[in-house]
Order: sequence, then structure tokens, then C-alpha cells
Amino acid sequence: MSNESLANLLKEERRFAPPAELAAAANVTAEAYARAESDRLGFWAEQARRLSWAVEPTETLDWSNPPFAKWFEDGKLNVAYNCVDRHVEAGHGDRVAIHFEGEPGDSRSITYAELQREVARAAHALTELGVRKGDRVAVYMPMIPETVIAMLACARLGAPHSVVFGGFSAEALATRIYDADAQVVITADGGYRRGKPSALKPAVDEAVGRCPGVRKVLVVRRTGQEVAWDDERDVWWHEIVERQPDAHTPEAHDAEHPLFILYTSGTTGKPKGILHTTGGYLTQTSYTHHAVFDLKPETDVYWCTADVGWVTGHSYIVYGPLSNGATQVLYEGTPDTPHQGRWWEIIAKYGVTIFYTAPTAIRACMKWGDDIPATFDLSSLRLLGSVGEPINPEAWIWYREHIGADAVPIVDTWWQTETGAMMISPLPGVTTTKPGSAQVPLPGIAATVVDDDANEVPDGAGGYLVLTEPWPSMLRTIWGDDERYKDTYWSRFPGRYFAGDGAKKDEDGDIWLLGRVDDVMLVSGHNISTTEVESALVSHPKVAEAAVVGATDPQTTQAICAFVILRGSAGQDGAEDEGLVEELRAHVAKALGPIAKPKRILPVAELPKTRSGKIMRRLLRDVAENRALGDVTTLTDSSVMNLIQAKLPSAG
Ligand code: WT7
Repeated sequence: MSNESLANLLKEERRFAPPAELAAAANVTAEAYARAESDRLGFWAEQARRLSWAVEPTETLDWSNPPFAKWFEDGKLNVAYNCVDRHVEAGHGDRVAIHFEGEPGDSRSITYAELQREVARAAHALTELGVRKGDRVAVYMPMIPETVIAMLACARLGAPHSVVFGGFSAEALATRIYDADAQVVITADGGYRRGKPSALKPAVDEAVGRCPGVRKVLVVRRTGQEVAWDDERDVWWHEIVERQPDAHTPEAHDAEHPLFILYTSGTTGKPKGILHTTGGYLTQTSYTHHAVFDLKPETDVYWCTADVGWVTGHSYIVYGPLSNGATQVLYEGTPDTPHQGRWWEIIAKYGVTIFYTAPTAIRACMKWGDDIPATFDLSSLRLLGSVGEPINPEAWIWYREHIGADAVPIVDTWWQTETGAMMISPLPGVTTTKPGSAQVPLPGIAATVVDDDANEVPDGAGGYLVLTEPWPSMLRTIWGDDERYKDTYWSRFPGRYFAGDGAKKDEDGDIWLLGRVDDVMLVSGHNISTTEVESALVSHPKVAEAAVVGATDPQTTQAICAFVILRGSAGQDGAEDEGLVEELRAHVAKALGPIAKPKRILPVAELPKTRSGKIMRRLLRDVAENRALGDVTTLTDSSVMNLIQAKLPSAG
């Protein structure tokens, strides 16, 4: 983010104290900061006791071999038992766990007792398909209850799941199945998206064709659309799951047993399989969901709009809320189907009290108009959350005024796939909020901002966000690549975790997040690496070379802007360029999924490179953002930039 937009951020000076009523009854008060400050590990050991352990841990943290952490190592527990069975045993079996709302308008409410039976059957079915503790299971699903059930069934068996976002291409799916060496894939015929069935099974068929290790594909029937079928390999969910016994004895797994792998983009192309384990992950997702959302399971109706394919869905649809016995909404589709008030209609229908979404969605709703939410009864809401990217103060204020009746507190929660759970966020009953800032590390979390030389910056200055102490839900490694784990996160500032985000401390010492500093772009809350998009472009026969940058974009935080050198005579004239540019955009979407489709593609004659051959993306970003060029002295040939700029009368 540029200094100019930072200045704009800081112009909004209104401050919002917690509502007195909420503060008086808050789950967590200011005392938690003091408690965690005086004994951080003792604090986390207490939070771990919010869970039900088969064997209580006596050790909290083993940090004897940093950066490889072990939390609660001698404890044993079952995550699915904690998320489901224990609530039934405590007498809450009749409480609704999930209000499912399908995009076409079908709905289904599932109680904790029903969820327990469904998870038991699914666990038996996976066992029948040969899934054993430690085996990886890929999950490629729409947003339906079976997705949650499948994840919990995997967790119950101790078979780490690898959920791949349903919007990803067959190729992206294949890479992820292959890297995790999954032998079973759980999918559906399709899901409903934008008013029509959108197929998933064909992508699985294509991906599995390239992954000979896959033995079984378990298919949920959701849309009823035609699917190709391999009798040896494919199994209908309803055929195998429904005939299983509806009780299943959970095994207690070690606290450090792998719970899931979730892939996130890296700067060097190949996606990183972020590994999360059992006890620490559940401790922190459960605690933060309780503390930051002030969840009262008897009365609240919670709704997180994320897709379960992202970490937000893992931590704040599946594990956090269910471990706390929440009643939540699960919605399959898009916010504007069949009309732009669909979300607000759902809030009114279920009386949603806590709502968690992303800035990009809030900005889209702003664009659609204030009158749309105004026609729905949103008076049930008492808490709003934001996640995924910095929320600009305009969007924050709009969210508060138009969704939160100018009264409901907003929690802006900073965290990452790697952190597993929230790290920096206001507490709704404690913090006086500042629009645009995530503000303070949560109790038990140690974060600060450092300069290039790893010195902590004073209040009022900017630098890089680092985490200075291990935390329970931290990633344990990158699947199969300990070296890359060390290099990526722990080498830039030795002894500290480098988050890859720029940040600033304001005069009060509150933290403002300023976006990515590496070559990972942040587009509508999704991390996409420049290298992945470049490789996709270069895989097209007409592209010789490509350089991709994220250009600041008011709607999506960053927009993907690609500079390509075409092969031979391709793109000699402007008219031809247009068709080719469209073809390239479609090509990237096919390779990586529609989110990675570049907003702009600019054919150029040369790319700016250093003597060592490294593309200087910084200069291309200057061009894409319509700025004067920075230092060009390290270029092999500085006239290259003149050529690029000459090609761009309409840049920006
Ligand atoms: C990156 C992590 C956390 C789940 C969704 C994204 C950005 C996330 C915020 C926030 C400013 C934020 C950061 C972070 N980010 N939340 N509240 N304020 N930036 O998970 O895909 O792993 O992306 O999202 O840049 O590093 P992810």
C-alpha cells in the first residue's frame, strides 16, 4: 500500500467504544491480557482445558528445536468428539448445529445429535473405503453439510484432510492431490453457483487421471447432473454412507497428530502445504472464536460467509464454532443470487447475531447500494467481523452504519493460513475500535513491527509484521519440506516469524496492516503468487515470457496485471492483440481457476531485468499503478522501460 493510501486510512478519526451491555456480559474481559502477559504458557494451558481431552496434557510448549513447535505434546484428544459428541453428551443434542441454506432456496437444519450420527456414518464409510489413521484425504466440494461432515469424519479417524477450494481447476487439484499423496478424494457431482449447477466431478476425473495414487472417489449427489462414472473407483456417498451404523467410537489422537494440510500460494511457484495439528490448533480456534465473537451458544446464531476451501472456513465454520457448540448458518451460493439482498435475507430468516465476512464482499455490497440492506430486518445482529485483507475505513464505516445499525461493534481480525487462527483483533467487550486497524495482539499472542534490520519500530513508524513467540495454532511445517518452512517464515528475521505483511504502529501502539510485501498478490482476500500466474501464461504457446504484478485496486485490494512477450509474429497488430489477450486470460483461468485470471494483460517487447536475470516487478508495479519509475540503475537496459511505457497510453 502506498503512503498516500496510508494517509487516507489514518484520516478517519472516529473511535467506537464497546456497547455497555456487551461489555458487561462479555466472555472475555481486559483481565485476559494481564493474565496472558504474566504467564503466557499458563494462559494457553488454561485455554486448552476448555476442550475435552482423553489424556490431559502436562506439558504446554516444547520449543527446544525451533522453529518446530510441539504444543500439549503428551495430551490426547479427538477433534470430532470435541466438535460434536461432547455437546450431545452435555444435553445439547437438540440444538441446531447447522442451518443449511442452498442457493436454489432449499434448506435443512441439522442438530448436534443428527450431526453426530452423520459423522459416525461417514467415518465408518471412509474406513470401509480403506482410509486409515494418517492417510490423506482430498476434499473438493461445494458449500454443503456433507463437506463439514466429511472433514469431521477425517478428523475423527486421524486421516488429515486436504480441502481444495471448489473453484480451483483440475490442474490445481491434481497438484495438491499429488503433493499430499491422497488416496481418496471426496467430491460432489456439483454445487449451485450463480443460479445454476456448477460441475465438480469432471475436474476430479481429470485430476485423478494424473494421480494414479487415488484409489477411491466418494461422490455426494447434490445437483443431480450427469457424471462420468468409473465403477471400480467411484462410490456414491448416499450408497455407502447411509447403510453404516450411526455410532462410532472416537480414537484419542496425539495432540501433535496432523489434522489437515491446506495449500497456500508461495513466491516460488509450487503451492505450500501448510500443516496444522490437533491439540494446539483446536485450542486456539476454539478460544478465539469464543473470545473475539463473544459467542453465547444458547442464544447466538453465527454466520461466516467464507468458503470451507479457505482457512477461514476450516477455523471459523468447522473447528472453532463447532467446538464451542455454536448454531450457525452455512450458505452454498453467491451473495447476489437470485438478488443482491440474498445475504441480508438470510440474516433476517435465521436471526443471525454474529456475522463474519471479507472486505471485498463488503465493498461489493456498498457498490450495489445502501437501499438493498435497508429493506431487510437486520436487528438481530450484535457483532460484525472482517477478515482477509486490510479493510479500508470507508468500507468499515459502511459496514457499521448499513449492516450494524451504527451500533454494532466490528472486529477486524488479522491472521493467515499459517497462523491457523486469529492473532490480531479487537476484543468486542474491551477494545475501543479504530476503523481500518486490527489493533492489538490477542491475549497470549506476541506480535510487533520491525524495520529492515529487525529492530522494533517506535510508535508512529512502519515496517514488517513479525510474531515473536510461538502460538498454539501455528503451522508446524510445510508438508514434506521443512527447509522451505524455515526459509519462508523464520530466516528473514532470525528467531521471529515473518508474516510477509507490511504494518505500521500508530501513536497509541496499535497495529495497522498494510498488505503483502512479497510477491504474493492479495486479490479479493485470496493469496495468489505472481510466479504461478507467470508459469500459467508461459505455458501458452504464444507467450514467450511473462511478468506479473499486483496493482493496487479499490475493489479487490490488488488486481493482477501481466506483462507478456509474445512469440514470433503473434500480436503484431492491436486488433489481433485483443483476441489474444482474451485467450490468455481464459488460459490462466483454466490453469489456475477464475480468481487468478489477470485483470489486464499487456503485450510488451521486453521485460525489465537485473543483470542476474531477475525480473524487476517493482518497476512494472510502478507502471501498472501509473507512478513515476523508481530506481532503474540495476537494469541491464534501462531503455526497456521507455518502450513499455510507450506501449501504455492508458495505463492505470
Ligand atoms: C493474508 C493471509 C486469514 C484468513 C484469510 C486469508 C491478509 C488477512 C487481514 C486483516 C489485513 C489481512 C494478510 C495476510 N489479511 N486478514 N484483518 N487485515 N490483512 O488467509 O490466504 O492465508 O492470507 O491475508 O495479508 O498475510 P490467507
